[in-house]
Amino acid sequence: MVSFELNEDHRLLEQSVREWAHREVAPRIRELDRAHRFDPSILPQMASLGLLGISVPAEYGGAGMDYISLGIASEELEYVDTSLRVIMSVHAGLNCLTLLSWGTEEQKQRYLVPQAQGLKIASFALTEPSAGSDARGIESVAIRHGDRYVLTGEKMWISLGHVADNFLVFAWTDLEKKRARDTSGMSAFIVERTFKGFASGTLDQKWGILAGNTGFFKMDEVEVPRENLVGREGEGFKIAMFALDQGRYTVAAGATGLVRACRDASVQYARTRKTFGVEIGEHQLVKEMIAQMESDYQASRLLWMRAGWLKNVGQRNTRETGLAKWFATVASERAAGDAVQVHGANGYSDEYPVGRFYRNCKGAVIYEGTREIHKIMQADYLLGYRTDRPSRCELPAWEGTTK
Ligand code: CAA
Repeated sequence: MVSFELNEDHRLLEQSVREWAHREVAPRIRELDRAHRFDPSILPQMASLGLLGISVPAEYGGAGMDYISLGIASEELEYVDTSLRVIMSVHAGLNCLTLLSWGTEEQKQRYLVPQAQGLKIASFALTEPSAGSDARGIESVAIRHGDRYVLTGEKMWISLGHVADNFLVFAWTDLEKKRARDTSGMSAFIVERTFKGFASGTLDQKWGILAGNTGFFKMDEVEVPRENLVGREGEGFKIAMFALDQGRYTVAAGATGLVRACRDASVQYARTRKTFGVEIGEHQLVKEMIAQMESDYQASRLLWMRAGWLKNVGQRNTRETGLAKWFATVASERAAGDAVQVHGANGYSDEYPVGRFYRNCKGAVIYEGTREIHKIMQADYLLGYRTDRPSRCELPAWEGTTK
């Protein structure tokens, strides 16, 4: 039986995250955003709500909640500000859930447990100055010397890059395969910021998600113990793609929350602002924008929930997660643009939150797979070029067609 009802645990989570974000963050988010300031005091608060290890089992220090819970929390956080959801995406999604699936027992005890408890903050580092969409194009290398690897390279656009304690880092361990762009030569490592040769900074030129930290780091012959290799040598690319299945899911659900925030702000404004002697909600072209936001919200929510359900039952979900991420992020861009439009000149000022929504939505149309990468992936599933979730196409023998 298919059910669209949230269970009691989901509803309690939704309520507690909503109340916390509305009470503790919403009243001061504009000031944090204006000051381009990441507030680290948010992290222990998120930890006490269980959000930093939300879908990690209790035996590894987490809250043991399912994937639908992860989606609900993502929606609620991004409803208030994208920077909150990004914390959960990189720490709990991209990093913790990947260690849970690919880490050794020792790695889980040493890294996952304190991360899930929120005692250590973690991030994910694939992107480099010259390699974003083209994940095979990274330049970082990890050369084995006895019981250690020596990592050299640079990572960029790393969420929490100047904040996190631990990073899941991708680098080539086979230089011949690097030259041939054969992904079976890439490996994954846990790198601590305290390792010698690691240096990070904040990218302070960005114009969205200003209350979040986005950084870069350089690894200058950073020595990483062999025990910090995640998975086997050569499995790094698969691990990166697996991690993105987790991260993209939280991005999809988060963008859905942003669509809802745009919708609610627009409805409220349309009921108070008057032009031509009536509330602007009376004008059909305003109704059109609000109706679009509602259909975008409902469709985005169904898409991330379907991906979450597949995750809950342990099925491969790259296809469904990618579709949810693509659709919801593009929908959030449309909703934010229209929310500013509904607010008119007021939307063009940061007296109202919709200007911030407009700046915040754009990042997710680019990171964790651009809109274009996701379009190509969806087409490739249909065309049979990607086969992990095959399509069924059973055309009838229409008159005039040949097989
Ligand atoms: N789980 C497990 N294995 C997977 C997988 C998954 N989700 N996805 C792919 N794989 C496996 C494949 O099965 C394949 O294995 P075999 O060779 O054994 O068959 C292998 O990995 C290679 O996969 P693909 O053939 O799909 O690789 P590709 O080169 O065709 O991928 C691409 C192309 C889809 C465009 C990919 O490069 C991609 O997703 N690019 C976008 C990267 C991205 O999102 N970057 C943003 C990172 S965000 C960041 O770093 C900053 C931050 O703070 C979050």
